[in-house]
Amino acid sequence: MYASVIRQSRYGAPEQAFGIEVVDTPQPGPNQVLVYVMAAGINYNNVWSALGAPLDVIAARQRRGATEDFHIGGSEGSGVVWAVGSRVRSVSVGDHVVLSGCMWDESAPDIRLGADPMTSATQVVWGYEENFGSFAQFALVDDYQCHPKPASLTWEAAAAFLLTGATAYRQLCGWPPNTVRPGDPVLIWGGGGGLGSMAIQIVSLLGGIPVAVVSSPERARYCIDLGARGAIDRREFDHWGPLPAFDDEEAMTRWIRGARAFGKQFWEIIGERRSPRVVLEHTGRDTIPTSMYLCDNAGMVVICGGTTGYDADVDLRFLWMRQKRLQGSHFANLQQCREVVALVESGKLAPCLSWCEPFESVGKAHQLMYNNEHPGGNMAVLVNAPEPGLTNLP
Ligand SMILES: NC(=O)c1ccc[n+]([C@@H]2O[C@H](COP(=O)([O-])OP(=O)(O)OC[C@H]3O[C@@H](n4cnc5c(N)ncnc54)[C@H](OP(=O)(O)O)[C@@H]3O)[C@@H](O)[C@H]2O)c1
Repeated sequence: MYASVIRQSRYGAPEQAFGIEVVDTPQPGPNQVLVYVMAAGINYNNVWSALGAPLDVIAARQRRGATEDFHIGGSEGSGVVWAVGSRVRSVSVGDHVVLSGCMWDESAPDIRLGADPMTSATQVVWGYEENFGSFAQFALVDDYQCHPKPASLTWEAAAAFLLTGATAYRQLCGWPPNTVRPGDPVLIWGGGGGLGSMAIQIVSLLGGIPVAVVSSPERARYCIDLGARGAIDRREFDHWGPLPAFDDEEAMTRWIRGARAFGKQFWEIIGERRSPRVVLEHTGRDTIPTSMYLCDNAGMVVICGGTTGYDADVDLRFLWMRQKRLQGSHFANLQQCREVVALVESGKLAPCLSWCEPFESVGKAHQLMYNNEHPGGNMAVLVNAPEPGLTNLP
C-alpha cells in the first residue's frame, strides 16, 4: 500500500519528515479491522512524531517489541471496512466508519476492574504511539475504534472532527463536579484551533459562556462566528512563559499586572467580574501561570497538551488557597466519542473542516500547524477519496 511514512533519518521539519513509500499492508488480528482510508485528519501529535521529539516514536515502539523501522501517523480518519478479524462482530466489511484515536487492551486487569479505558496502563494513541495510522491507503485499528460515519458528512469532514471534538468534550464534560453548567464562563486557549473551535461550540451547547484567546483579528472573527462571547488577542500582553522568581518583587509585580490586565479583558467580554469556572488548556508552558491565576476559586484548569512546552510553572498558592483543580485529560472514552459523533450527526456540532488537500500534502499540513499558520478549525487530507465533497463511494 502507499503510505505517508516518517523514518528516523528524516526526523525534523514536518515538511521533510513525511515521504510517500510503498509498504506491506498490515493484516488484521482476531479483534482488528483493516480500513480502506478515504480521508485522514491532521493533528498536532504527528508534528511531534515528525520532529522525533520529545518522543522518538519509532524507537519507543521497537522497545515494546515492534519490528517496523517506520512510522505511519494519523490518529483519526474516515473510510470503509475492508477486512475484519475472526472475532469482530461490531462492524462488517463495507461499513462506512470514522476512526477514534486511542487503543487499549480490553483484557487488561485495570479495565476488567472497571477503569475508564482511557486511564488504563495499556492505553496508547493510535497513529502516534501505535503504528499503521490513517496516513496510508489502509489503516489497522481495534474494532471498538470504528464508529458509524454520519451519512451526510463528506469523507474529509468526517475524518477530522473526532480527535479534537471528543478531547474537548471530555475536558468540558468528563471531570465532575467541574463540568460546564449553564451560565459558566469558560476560557478557551487557541479558540481558533482544532480543539478550540470544537470547545467553543460545546460550551455554547451546554449553556456556558465561551471566551476565546487568539492571535489575529481573523481568528477572533472565526471564534465569534462559532459562538464565542468574545476573543482576547494574546499579542496585546507579554507576561507569557515561566513565572518570575518569587523573590524578584519587581518582575513579579510586572507579571501580576499583565495577568490582571488579561483578566480584566475577560470580565469586559462577559460583562461582569466573574472568573472562568473552567479553563481549557493545551498550550502549556506559556499560558499555565495565567490559567492558574485566572481560574475561579474551586474551578478547574483542564489540560490535554503542551504546545509551547510541557515544563510549566504553577504558583501552588493559587492551587491550594483558592482550592483550584489542575486536571489532566487525554482524548476520550468510547461513550464520549459516540456522544460527539451523535452531536455532529444531528447538526448541533459543526465539524469545522477548514483545509483539505491531496494525500501528498501530509507534510505540508503538519508544517502549517507547526508554524501556527493554518486556518481556523480542523484539517484533513484526502487518501483514497478521489476528490473533496463526496459522502459515499464514487
Ligand atoms: N491529549 C489529547 O488527547 C489531545 C487531543 C487533541 C490535541 N491535543 C494537543 O492540544 C494542542 C492543540 O491542538 P489543536 O489541534 O487545537 O492545535 P491547533 O489547531 O494548532 O490549535 C492550537 C492553537 O494554539 C494557539 N497557540 C499557539 N501558540 C500559542 C501560544 N504561545 N500561546 C497561546 N496560544 C497559542 C494557536 O492559537 P492563536 O495563535 O490564535 O492564539 C492555535 O490556534 C496540541 O498540543 C495537541 O497535541 C491533545
